[in-house]
Amino acid sequence: MTKPPFILAIAGGGSTYTPGIVKSLMVRLADFPLAEIRLYDIDGERQDIIAPVVEKVIRDHSQSIKLTVTTDPEVAFSHAHFVFAQMRVGQYKMREQDEKIPLRHGVVGQETCGPGGLAYGLRTILPMVELIDLVERYADNAWIVNYSNPAAIVAEGVRRLRPQARVLNICDMPVAAMRNIAAVLGVDREAVTVNYFGLNHFGWFTQVLVDGVDRLPQLREHIARFGLLTEDAAATDPQHSDPSWVKTWRNIKPLMDHFPEYLPNPYMQYYLMPNQIVEHQNPDYTRANEVMDGREKKLFAAAAEYKRTGILPDAFHVGVHGSFIVDVARSLAFDLRQRHLVIVENRGAIANLPYDAMVEVPAYITANGPEAVTVGKIPLFYKGLIEQQLACEQLLVEATLEGSYEKALQAFTLNRTVPTMQHAKAILDDMIAANQDYWPQLEQAYKEGI
Ligand code: G6P
Ligand code: MN
Repeated sequence: MTKPPFILAIAGGGSTYTPGIVKSLMVRLADFPLAEIRLYDIDGERQDIIAPVVEKVIRDHSQSIKLTVTTDPEVAFSHAHFVFAQMRVGQYKMREQDEKIPLRHGVVGQETCGPGGLAYGLRTILPMVELIDLVERYADNAWIVNYSNPAAIVAEGVRRLRPQARVLNICDMPVAAMRNIAAVLGVDREAVTVNYFGLNHFGWFTQVLVDGVDRLPQLREHIARFGLLTEDAAATDPQHSDPSWVKTWRNIKPLMDHFPEYLPNPYMQYYLMPNQIVEHQNPDYTRANEVMDGREKKLFAAAAEYKRTGILPDAFHVGVHGSFIVDVARSLAFDLRQRHLVIVENRGAIANLPYDAMVEVPAYITANGPEAVTVGKIPLFYKGLIEQQLACEQLLVEATLEGSYEKALQAFTLNRTVPTMQHAKAILDDMIAANQDYWPQLEQAYKEGI
């Protein structure tokens, strides 16, 4: 087992999330001792804006931890023990395109769901594999804990191209939902144990256990009135309390009004009620704009003020996003076998889904990686939804690896948010034009008109 204190690299060091993650690390230093934090980004200019904020956060807690800020992968990864990955290929500018192009065609515009997520997948799979190769070249045996989106597609791409890589793909959405669940029930988040199955951003809580008792019946009653929020909407941290997120938590109500059996991941709104989502989306001002004008601007302004005055305003938060990745890394580092919801190869955990599907289920996190719990068979409705989404995501990965236009079109057509093949083609063609600098070339095996 790797011995502390650890060297940790953050790939995507210029992310708006970096200060929050580092703050989480500082709060937990006794549990997860660090010798060095390295920020690594291909956009050195952006990273240099964030780095002084990170340095201040570190120095408020420790004088001894070394901070290295670099665009050189060798400097970043040599002898690193852990890498936290959070790359955003194309940055928020391309997220804006992912959201706005489908909306122009009347289709859901979203970061990871629908055509936006597929476009983001086509941008991210190969750079993610490059990152894995760099880490393997310079660090022996480092664990990569990966937040990079779209996580389901990234996980499938990595499984196909680098099946042996020490990568654990994670998402903070289930744990964010658990935070709200705990607030609604009036218990600590740590007191809540869940059962869950699905794909990333496409799944359901089947049980919510507190002291061994399933509290889903009580939650159903609450959700029927307020959605997955406390009555006064105070349950969330700042990231998930923007108006668009409040609406998302409230939408758990219509989802459960129709299918009360299980508690859906909030992202199911995009697949099960896409029309209502589109009706409420502004094609000229999407979540990317909200984030650029909100989280990003606030952090950049704080960095500028800190530079000017030496005082760092309160500009970021340590929510579940920061604490979850530290929890997972700790469990890997010390073989704690903590139970977390993560993305793993199925291998029979969900009995009636493909053995090699990348699924999101509870797992015990050991020093050798995750051990999924046995979920068993899932009911036909959920199985059908998941299989369609899985085929869509797998086709997208194949399109990326083979450079196949047809497979990309099939992936877009299979997505539940896309009503017709004509919509799929129109959106795909617009996205090819917008993603010229990022996507692999997609070739048509059959020429048009034949
Ligand atoms: C959740 C999801 C992430 C996603 C994020 C978007 O936390 O789990 O995968 O990236 O929401 O949040 P944002 O505030 O950027 O819209
Ligand atoms: Mn996520």
